[in-house]
Amino acid sequence: MAGNKSLKAAVRAKEDEFYTQLTDIEKELRHYKQHFRGKTILCNCDDPFESNFFKYFVLNFNRLGIKKLIATCYSGSPIANQQLSLFDVLGQGDENANKPYKAIVTQVYDQTGDGGVDMLDVAELFKTGVNELVELTGDGDFRSEECIELLKQADIVVTNPPFSLFREYVALLLSYNKSFIIVGNKNAVTYKEFFPLLMENKVWVGSRNMNQDFWLYVPEGAPYEKVDENGRHIKHIMACWYTNLDIRKRHEEMILVKRYNSSEYLQYDNYEAINVDKVQDIPCDYAGIMGVPVTFMDKYNPDQFEIIGLVNGKDYLAGIKTTKNYKDYEETRQNGTKTGSDGGKINGNPVLKGKPKSGNYFVLNDEVVHSTYARIFIRNKHLEEVKK
Ligand SMILES: C[S@@+](CC[C@H](N)C(=O)[O-])C[C@H]1O[C@@H](n2cnc3c(N)ncnc32)[C@H](O)[C@@H]1O
Repeated sequence: MAGNKSLKAAVRAKEDEFYTQLTDIEKELRHYKQHFRGKTILCNCDDPFESNFFKYFVLNFNRLGIKKLIATCYSGSPIANQQLSLFDVLGQGDENANKPYKAIVTQVYDQTGDGGVDMLDVAELFKTGVNELVELTGDGDFRSEECIELLKQADIVVTNPPFSLFREYVALLLSYNKSFIIVGNKNAVTYKEFFPLLMENKVWVGSRNMNQDFWLYVPEGAPYEKVDENGRHIKHIMACWYTNLDIRKRHEEMILVKRYNSSEYLQYDNYEAINVDKVQDIPCDYAGIMGVPVTFMDKYNPDQFEIIGLVNGKDYLAGIKTTKNYKDYEETRQNGTKTGSDGGKINGNPVLKGKPKSGNYFVLNDEVVHSTYARIFIRNKHLEEVKK
């Protein structure tokens, strides 16, 4: 049991150690410039000298008109204090490496006199006490009392938090009514704790296109896919941005070009809704409920569409009821052999009649059905308005 626990902890830690590239932070945060002026920004999963979030805010501190920047790091992070040791800054030597720190920045200027502002100025401004760099009493866990005290001071939280604690992280930010811009797993859209926030317009997908590749740094020794131009190891992660700050994208309407026809847009066998396989194929003239892929969240404008629910196997959160049960169906491979499972496992999924192009299907007497991927159920608000 103990072995199992430590294995799980190791898997979790592996999921959590991805580091965001400065260019990705710059590309996203330029859409939020208007929100930062006069605000206290908190990066609470960020080693001040490793994190590109800290770097971005400190180097753009004056341009964005930030009031205060706070960063805290976690003692468990394998890259803490690697690049420019905080202890070099404090002149305390290596024995303190990996200790968690909080950095509080209220002023940024050219302290070294070289004509520009860079991370060396920031280090000097800590050394001279203009800004504050102090050891935390605990391990820097964002849930610890001292980190929550810092959270209370913040207006906007901006970071890439540990994926394994994403649900807890978001719940904490919302419980303190904080604005945020964070990186998370794309699959979070279907988490039963997170989807309702998207549906109720409390959180939305950030500016970056959800389908665009997201390459993050991995620590030395971890598996990687590419080496970037600076020789650092990077890996493609299923990630996107989530925020509750207003952005232009959220007000852009999707241009719908396709028209509904019953042969292309099949009715589900177990929901009173039609299936749409690609977000760009949402028909412009269908007023009823439509099941669309989860990447719809990327294009969601609450003035254009209403979200009815999510249907994703047993995690389904539909505001629409399933009309059929598949318990006695037999799961069948493409070659016609039976897997031995019954249809119970597709209960709750969106189901279409007939065989799929690939993958298993389910049979009962002469009836053949297959389930689709997770679907978000939506309705076009404009057509609803026309109907009224
Ligand atoms: C996905 S990484 C991103 C790091 C950094 N924010 C960035 O974007 O480059 C998440 C970081 O959170 C740290 N972390 C893990 N558990 C944490 C916790 N309970 N509290 C604070 N940080 C934690 C990890 O060690 C890791 O450094």
